[in-house]
Amino acid sequence: MNKKTYNIVLLPGDGIGPDVTREAVAVLDLAASHSGFVLNYDEQPVGGAAIDQQNNPLPDAVLERCTGADSVLLGAVGGPKWDHLTGAMRPESGLLKLRKALGAFANLRPVSVPDSLADASPLRADAVRGTDLLVVRELTGGIYFGEPRGREPEGDHEKAYNTMVYTTPEIDRVARVAFDWAGKRRRSVTSVDKANVLVVSQLWRDVVQHVHDKDFSNIALQHMYVDNAAMQLVLNPRQFDVIVTGNLFGDILSDAAATLGGSLGLLPSASVGGKVGLFEPVHGSAPDIAGQDKANPVAAILSVGMMLDFLGEEKAAEAVRHGVHEALDAGARTADLCREGHRRVSTSEMSQEIQRGMTAFMKG
Ligand code: IPM
Ligand code: MN
Repeated sequence: MNKKTYNIVLLPGDGIGPDVTREAVAVLDLAASHSGFVLNYDEQPVGGAAIDQQNNPLPDAVLERCTGADSVLLGAVGGPKWDHLTGAMRPESGLLKLRKALGAFANLRPVSVPDSLADASPLRADAVRGTDLLVVRELTGGIYFGEPRGREPEGDHEKAYNTMVYTTPEIDRVARVAFDWAGKRRRSVTSVDKANVLVVSQLWRDVVQHVHDKDFSNIALQHMYVDNAAMQLVLNPRQFDVIVTGNLFGDILSDAAATLGGSLGLLPSASVGGKVGLFEPVHGSAPDIAGQDKANPVAAILSVGMMLDFLGEEKAAEAVRHGVHEALDAGARTADLCREGHRRVSTSEMSQEIQRGMTAFMKG
């Protein structure tokens, strides 16, 4: 019988993107070698790397590879080298274009604080221990993409504007993703908006409530203003199960939530909704430590765990998560997380430790 084959496009990108992508691929290879599937990789440039090579942060040929793949793994994009660029020439705009083209409208960002990490948090360990939440961020709409947008002269000064816009179908479909996930978790959704000020949030709130009442009345739903949500995430993060929110609020709140576990270097993400899933660590390109074997590979490795889940390789996904927990429990910490009493390890050492835990799991 032919083995199942998955075609994966790798977009390492910029800064630490290549460092963490390399380790995520090592983990994928190990998972494949113990399971019944084969992985084909196709590495392509994106972001600053693609600007340097082809003067375009997402060349058409690269996008075509992505839309034809089974999954896409992205490292990170951007850096000071390209900070002078504007508009469609920025590295980030390549990523936004990719999300849009893949139809990846729901961005899943799980945040959990296992016991082994509670003491790495900038907050009190007892305030964060046991946090286990999922941010469902709308990813292909809102103010990131809204028109009109522009910057233009106005009399003796300039003006600039963006538009935060959502349609009923855009809100409806992401709300359904959030309620579906809540059904597999603790059956509670918090929808975050700014409905006391923004008209677009009033529509958001109405549509989420409508979807709930019609099809998900078995799930608890509360609405929360985004300023309060930012505070509640710090005060009592355990109250949250699934948080669903728009593109900009989700961007901000997920970074805040990521620090609960002590580092943005832990947070994976999956962007789904289209035919092809896009998997990427939430962290950025951290140019100051790029290429030094210092970056935390956990976010990228957990992202391929999510990829394996979406490909239907649940056992392999479980092995990845197990390996990460084993390594953390054993006290291995990259620089971003290292406190007294821990073993400081490099990117590649962290990855090897995770792979050891995976191997034990897959053999057992
Ligand atoms: C993220 C990043 C991106 C975003 C940037 C790099 C465009 O911050 O994935 O959270 O704002 O969505
Ligand atoms: Mn962000």
